[in-house]
Amino acid sequence: MRDKSNAFPFSAETLRSLRADTPGCESVVHFNNAGCGLLARPVLEAMLAHLRLEAAIGGYEAAAARQEEVRDFYAATAGLLNCSPENIAFAGSATDAYTRALSAIPFERGDVILTTRNDFISNQIAFLSLRKRFGVEIVHAPDHADGSGVDVEAMAALMRARRPRLVAVTHVPTNSGLVQPVAEIGRHCRELELLYLVDACQTVGQYEIDVEEIGCDLLTATCRKFLRGPRGSGFLYVSDRVLRAGYEPLFIDMYGARWVEPGRYRPVETAARFEDWEFPYSAVIGSAVATRYALQVGVHRIAERTPALAARLRDRLAGVPGVRLLDRGARPAALVTFEIEGWQPQPFKEAMDARGINSALSFREFAQYDFRDKDVEWALRLSPHYYNTEEEVDRVAAAVAELSVTAARR
Ligand SMILES: Cc1ncc(COP(=O)(O)O)c(C=O)c1O
Repeated sequence: MRDKSNAFPFSAETLRSLRADTPGCESVVHFNNAGCGLLARPVLEAMLAHLRLEAAIGGYEAAAARQEEVRDFYAATAGLLNCSPENIAFAGSATDAYTRALSAIPFERGDVILTTRNDFISNQIAFLSLRKRFGVEIVHAPDHADGSGVDVEAMAALMRARRPRLVAVTHVPTNSGLVQPVAEIGRHCRELELLYLVDACQTVGQYEIDVEEIGCDLLTATCRKFLRGPRGSGFLYVSDRVLRAGYEPLFIDMYGARWVEPGRYRPVETAARFEDWEFPYSAVIGSAVATRYALQVGVHRIAERTPALAARLRDRLAGVPGVRLLDRGARPAALVTFEIEGWQPQPFKEAMDARGINSALSFREFAQYDFRDKDVEWALRLSPHYYNTEEEVDRVAAAVAELSVTAARR
């Protein structure tokens, strides 16, 4: 029997205890999880404990004393993605992980990067920078006419015709709830033996991610969003295929390589090749605890509840005059984006802030293709997570409705 409680798929009691474990739930209605999720208490405590230990006994000594906890970052992340700990490199952010991955590809003039019209802004800027420096060609696969995301068949045809050096796809962009079919694209990449990089920044911690099922060679994410880890943490998954083929970051350091003789270094065998000597250890430990926490809550349960809360929000907002919902696709993720008549972006966000509701703005610059296609200059993004309640969703929708009336009167 399905639990029909408002906390689905949790019991009301479980949801209450998850919220009690989240200090921020007492002070804000946090609908900015696509920016940064609220820390759970065990994550906060583990990080504070490590900082205190560093202050008490020294930074290197604290890292040595907490080796097990540090190592668990790799085991926990591997458990989350269905790979081995040796395939995981810690990174300071998703972008840091992404640029390390890109730097490992020996691009030459005329190489093609095949991507989508919804790939993340910083990834698109990185491709343009590679074009400027190395003369690569950037090809954007077309979207389906109905706006439901990239046309996989058209993308596969481009793969066959252009033999790209890299196929790069963002699973869910920053600027809408669109979910791209990364596993379907991955099947074509595997069949054609093309290098495949997936940006899963908005999906780790929100959906189950299986790198084998996706068929990617490289995958990047931050820990601070739906995984609810600390700021300044992320990771890069590097497949065995890529490690065996000898890919290494352009700037490899004394942690990623052994300096075996004056004129030669040897990259280490594992994804540690993509890491640096220096780590923010409290963030590494905090990320490990956050990932264990998500696994314990159950990512499959999170994946049921989180997009369902967003669907409820879209449903409520659909009836608000002057609001245009912008998310496309059959089953969008928990990034709810909309524009509202009569408001400028900053005052609108400030009006939400004043009601104790955290949100984020997206601008045309974040999504040159998508926002141009939708003819929008800016949008408000509301991104609930599993620890939010249905009552909060309704309160947020009521706040938008109230503000739409205020706008009409101005
Ligand atoms: C889809 C996507 N990719 C990458 C990033 C970049 O993440 P970070 O800020 O950790 O570099 C973001 C951040 O919003 C994102 O939404």
